[in-house]
Amino acid sequence: MKLIPLSAVALCEELQQMPQSGLEIFAMFNVNDIRKDFPILSRKVNGKPLVYFDNAATSQTPQQVIDAIVDYYSNYNANIHRGVHTLSQEATDLYEAARKKIQTHFNAKFSHEIILTSGTTHGINLIANGFSSLLKKDDEIIVSALEHHSNIVPWQMLCERTGATLKVIPMNEQGELVMPEFDKLLTSNTKLVFLNHISNALGTINPIEYIIEKAHAVDAAVLIDGAQATPHIKPDLQALDVDFYVASAHKMCGPTGVGMLYGKEKWLKKLPPYQGGGEMIAEVTFEKTTYADLPHKFEAGTPNIAGGIVFGAAIDYMNSIGFDTIATYENELLEYATAQLLSIDGLKIYGTSKTKTSVISFNLEGIHPYDVGAILDKLGIAVRTGHHCAQPIMDFYKIPGTIRASFAFYNTKEEIDALVEGVKKAKMMLA
Ligand code: ALA
Repeated sequence: MKLIPLSAVALCEELQQMPQSGLEIFAMFNVNDIRKDFPILSRKVNGKPLVYFDNAATSQTPQQVIDAIVDYYSNYNANIHRGVHTLSQEATDLYEAARKKIQTHFNAKFSHEIILTSGTTHGINLIANGFSSLLKKDDEIIVSALEHHSNIVPWQMLCERTGATLKVIPMNEQGELVMPEFDKLLTSNTKLVFLNHISNALGTINPIEYIIEKAHAVDAAVLIDGAQATPHIKPDLQALDVDFYVASAHKMCGPTGVGMLYGKEKWLKKLPPYQGGGEMIAEVTFEKTTYADLPHKFEAGTPNIAGGIVFGAAIDYMNSIGFDTIATYENELLEYATAQLLSIDGLKIYGTSKTKTSVISFNLEGIHPYDVGAILDKLGIAVRTGHHCAQPIMDFYKIPGTIRASFAFYNTKEEIDALVEGVKKAKMMLA
């Protein structure tokens, strides 16, 4: 079956027209076998079996990825790009092989268009910093109302440095971007548009294909924050024709502290380095320094070598399950959980777009989300509560925050039943 970078909902619609393909996918997928790969899923929290529904914050780590970390430190640990000795060369080869793996996974044209970063936030700051030298006072940049703070604050800082203006694509009650308003915001002064592929707080899948096409029509570049998309779908960066795409390994069954920034070659050549230091130079004298070629120009200092290599192992793991399978199964979980939670009186879901991934943000009428989260934790159920680093979304709904349950392919309907029972219990205790 072909891989298509579509929403889980759209994928499901496609599968409904191809029932045999759908059945084949489910025949191959056994969630109980998958769960055996994740040692943490068999632990208890507060005396209860752990139900881990905080996957949008960070995903859990399969044994195959844990083994890759141990293997690196047991057999290959050395600094890279620096030594003639065997260990250094082997570590360098593994690190560069991981870069190639990331390139292939996301279908970037060149491996030097993949910059290894410490995560999504680092990637966004790198680009925002680089644009300081390209923007001037009358320029405009466009963000969406659905952003995480990491895709708002670096751009506000850029506006402070350059005098450029920040404009915002508004959202509607369903948690979708209002596209006719976006069309009106675009002008010949627009230099950059940046938004997430999928909202971390609501799960909305944004129409990035439309946004990229429209932005390019006025010669504006587009940066997509893929932190919440890459655990669920496999974006094809060349097909998207996006200028920059950023993501984090730890949302994709990989380790924390490593991520990737994709940039089109023409942009990465144009932008200045972000940090100075070892590895990013061609030649240094006290009079003048010249910079290394891509990708090293943007990779100053000793990187997270183990993290980069193990990011590759995490991508292998997720591909061994398959993103079609993941999207189909997670969509089933989303539909089931939505129906079950809505059967609770006084429960409201925030973010009801038809194009949505497996994230449910909700509140119980008259009850603070933190209190519900604390009771769920006593029952061994991990959810995130609060503003989810997306305060403008909470302000839009005039709420302090939500309870967010975010599902991964290793979750089960039985775990959703436990969540629903827990929420009912919290309601009884707190109402
Ligand atoms: N950005 C992560 C989240 O949404 C931490 O929880």
